[in-house]
Amino acid sequence: MASLAGKHILLGVTGSIAAYKSAMLIRALVKEGAEVRVVMTEMAKHFITPLTLATLSKNPIAVEFYNPENGDWNSHVSLGLWADLLLIAPVTANTMGKMVTGVADNLLITTYLSAKCPVAVAPAMDLDMYKHPSTTENMNILRSRGVYIIEPASGELASGLDGKGRMEEPERIVAHVEAIFAASGTLAGKKMLITAGPTCEDIDPVRYITNHSSGKMGYAIAHEAANRGAEVTVVSGPVNVELFHPNVKIVPVKSAGEMFEACKGFVADADMIVLCAAVADFTVKERADRKIKREKSDYALTLTPTQDIAAWVGANKRSGTFLTGFALETNDELENAKGKLKRKNLDMIVLNSMQDAGAGFRTDTNKITIITSDGNVDVYPLKTKKQVAADIIDKMEKCSNA
Ligand code: PMT
Repeated sequence: MASLAGKHILLGVTGSIAAYKSAMLIRALVKEGAEVRVVMTEMAKHFITPLTLATLSKNPIAVEFYNPENGDWNSHVSLGLWADLLLIAPVTANTMGKMVTGVADNLLITTYLSAKCPVAVAPAMDLDMYKHPSTTENMNILRSRGVYIIEPASGELASGLDGKGRMEEPERIVAHVEAIFAASGTLAGKKMLITAGPTCEDIDPVRYITNHSSGKMGYAIAHEAANRGAEVTVVSGPVNVELFHPNVKIVPVKSAGEMFEACKGFVADADMIVLCAAVADFTVKERADRKIKREKSDYALTLTPTQDIAAWVGANKRSGTFLTGFALETNDELENAKGKLKRKNLDMIVLNSMQDAGAGFRTDTNKITIITSDGNVDVYPLKTKKQVAADIIDKMEKCSNA
């Protein structure tokens, strides 16, 4: 399911050059299933047309208190009541000042003053305006009143100067919106540790042993858990997947040894753990300090077993922590997965087989079977990794009574 399905988002757009990004923001919110309505200030109309925003949001745009053509009243009260979230992006220093002092001289501010839903703002302004004590003070006051501030990014500004003040990018604003709704999600207050991606075991300074894991499955689980309110730590091998979410912290590692050391620090605190990484079972016994030359006709590497992280976690987790492992198999799938579930003291194992088309490494889909420690076996059809992640978290919530 889309992360913002059924949510009503009232987008306030104010007079900043960053208003052009509100078109992309509306698209991104709608893509995640939200219904969007827009209130603009008069000044915002100079930066982006109401027609553009009306077309993208599929709703008429409200600017004035009433329609001068026919006298139709734009009720700020009903707009405020309709919204599950009032998001003002971009918000100018001027509008923040009015929000603080209650200068209700436009429809957006009257809507803000009567809204009962959470309010978030994404400031956009020049670096010196942003650094000005009155801006800082106004933001602190808004924060103290519960307004969620989406900090601007640093970079090139419309003035040509470089610094902090650029409105955050639309996809990142969507992640903040997801986090706001996640605060009342089913996993709010829970801590989750996830391993993801491959590990790389160095042979010499230029070569390593690895596998085909892309990290897609582990990161999809992290995103889903974060959207349900969990505070997620992802200990991740080298991947190209990008995930920004205010509830997610990524701890990058390279080798199985590094992954083990990083995980150890989070296990005691975790309420839920998902070990999705494809960890190398063997590492190179003696890494060469210099690039190995191809002088010999054959070359033997001595490998030594890595620490089995799952088995260590299974033996050392505190009681009450729900532990999920994965099994990637090529043959005797069910039997092998059941063996791993038991040997590693897991509460649940997610089996995916290299025999199934569209399952396992790199694909955007997966086909899983979930086996729980009570012997229950659930077979799922091929789904997107996003959907699979939701199935896995559903099952973990059910089995752990989270
Ligand atoms: O990253 P993607 O491209 O999206 O692919 C997803 C995936 C195929 C990597 C994922 O779905 C998956 O199956 N991950 C586990 C792969 C694996 O290493 O399975 P395994 O059967 O070898 O290991 C069993 C369990 O022990 C796993 O939870 C694994 O994380 C863990 N393990 C293994 C070895 C080791 N040294 N330490 C471990 O913790």
